[in-house]
Amino acid sequence: MLKDSFGRVATDLRVSLTDKCNLRCSYCMPPEGLDWMPSAQLLTADEIVRLVRLGVERLGITEVRYTGGEPLLRRELVDIVARTTALAPRPQVYLTTNGIGLAKLAESLAGAGLDRVNVSLDTLDPETFKRLAHRDRFADVIAGLEAADRAGLRPVKVNTVLMRGVNETEAVPLLRFCLDRGYELRFIEQMPLDAQHGWKRENMVTADEILAMLEPEFDLTPDDLEERGSAPAERYLVDGGPARVGVIGSVTRPFCAACDRVRLTADGQIRNCLFATEESDLKSALRAGATDDELAERWIAAVRGKRAGHGIDDPSFLQPSRPMSAIGG
Ligand code: 5AD
Ligand code: SF4
Repeated sequence: MLKDSFGRVATDLRVSLTDKCNLRCSYCMPPEGLDWMPSAQLLTADEIVRLVRLGVERLGITEVRYTGGEPLLRRELVDIVARTTALAPRPQVYLTTNGIGLAKLAESLAGAGLDRVNVSLDTLDPETFKRLAHRDRFADVIAGLEAADRAGLRPVKVNTVLMRGVNETEAVPLLRFCLDRGYELRFIEQMPLDAQHGWKRENMVTADEILAMLEPEFDLTPDDLEERGSAPAERYLVDGGPARVGVIGSVTRPFCAACDRVRLTADGQIRNCLFATEESDLKSALRAGATDDELAERWIAAVRGKRAGHGIDDPSFLQPSRPMSAIGG
């Protein structure tokens, strides 16, 4: 098992397949993009599947989420998904994507056994989309969402980051849009993970603010009392359900104490937290001929050293040196 010194067990593996992206969301990347990882640095599909298999067969991973950058840009994605869903015990396999290209790939991904997708959508206005993501691709995202739904990757989940002065007025329309289509919307507080280090607390639209915008329009009842105990709810039934909305207060309502995640970057580093300042280099070990036992040992040690929380509120907080696109969502 992947257990840390606080007793948390990591069962949810997030694998970044590439740091490249065809959007430039301002909370993630500068408009000019970043220096992408050289392709020789990226794990090959075989290396990815070997590590995922190790996680699933020996280390208790039950959920695998492929992310990026933009994972649909990785040519072998369908193959990687198929090989993941063929593992035993079969993990749940998910994809976090910006939706561009999903219209073409949703059917094949569903055929490969993919269970669900999370699609990022921050606005319903093509002009705001262009301003926020620096690319005119709104229609592609909508087409991707529809294709995912048609292909049965349900419930389609939508991730939204609200930013002051950009899209903060869209909480209610976005929820209506998702309710109408049977998508499950989750608002995520903006975290300090952008490559430009432009995050400012005062520009973050908080979970409390989001709830205050939704509550006059919808009847919201907490849906996760058992899981969260006395912590603030993350998921709410909308108008009595079964539709739900998520409000993820990553910064103001940290859920670190219940975290079950571990990450593998596209260049083969294990990160025990989005905000980790250290990584464990599985790729070099793997390429130097390490056995499964040796790789498992390194991975276990990497998780054991996980810190209690992200500490965004500590004066000593340091933003991780890698941006979100190079870590994986
Ligand atoms: N803060 C919060 N969420 C972010 N995402 C990307 N960068 C940030 C950030 N700085 C979201 C994307 C995507 C998922 C991978 O994480 O919107 O849905
Ligand atoms: Fe691309 Fe996702 Fe970053 Fe947006 S948030 S630029 S879609 S990697």
